[in-house]
Amino acid sequence: MTTIIDGKQVAASVIEAVKDAASSLLQETGVKVGLAVVIVGDDPASHTYVSAKSRMAKECGFTSVQHTLPAETTQEELAALVKTLNEDPSVNGILVQLPLPKHLKSEPIIQSILPEKDVDGLHVVNAGKLATGDLEGGLVSCTPAGAMVFVRRIHGEDLSGLNAVVIGRSNLFGKPMSALLLAANATVTTAHSRTSDLAAVCRNADILVAAVGRPQMVKAEWVKPGATVIDVGINRIPAPDKGEGKTRLVGDVAFEECAKVAGVITPVPGGVGPMTIAMLMANTVIAAYRSAGRKPPRF
Ligand code: GUN
Repeated sequence: MTTIIDGKQVAASVIEAVKDAASSLLQETGVKVGLAVVIVGDDPASHTYVSAKSRMAKECGFTSVQHTLPAETTQEELAALVKTLNEDPSVNGILVQLPLPKHLKSEPIIQSILPEKDVDGLHVVNAGKLATGDLEGGLVSCTPAGAMVFVRRIHGEDLSGLNAVVIGRSNLFGKPMSALLLAANATVTTAHSRTSDLAAVCRNADILVAAVGRPQMVKAEWVKPGATVIDVGINRIPAPDKGEGKTRLVGDVAFEECAKVAGVITPVPGGVGPMTIAMLMANTVIAAYRSAGRKPPRF
């Protein structure tokens, strides 16, 4: 029997733990967790994501402040806002929604966020801590952290002897995911568009994580029988069966056929997706605990 992971349910359990942690911190130290979310311009998809993040922060009992800046905002104005948020002790986490409008450079902005407030885990200090296996000191990028919650719930803390293959080598996902699996003692291969015989590489995986951005690329023949398959892809494809001009979301994994071979598989939507916001909340609580000199809980 194949297990289909319910990402919404796992995310809800993380959110419950975040709420408990935020409420304990408030009771014990008087510190209310604070998240600042910054959005520049009027990209509708970005506004939808940011509203969901701000709403969830409030639901978790945080102080949630959203800074909505016009599309014409200059690099200097955005940098000045980040500096103010860095210096504000009531702000534990800062998230600058990406992509920024084309005239703005995102990298200097992301790197100007204090690493201890970088709840997106994108600062080089946080990437470096993860790369050196310092999981206690830094903040881990939310989507790989969420995928890793699934891996831990299925395989436990120690992945010794297991082969893990991550397809994708982005700084946002592939590299941190590989680092997390390696830190848990898996034998890790980071595959990508230049890998030869990708199917054979994937068939070796006890844990297969797909983050390539190509709809339904991973086929049943790529999956080792009984493997854990985690699909990080979110692709919108035409769905003429639903009516003219209609679309549907699919992952990087051909779900129906792979589900027949895998032991455990995540669906799209409803798999890794819901975990990203949950882990953002978890990172914010972790940042607040550290700022208060307390040992944060593990999520
Ligand atoms: N845009 C899409 N996903 C993300 C994310 O995880 N963090 C930020 N900052 N922007 C995004």
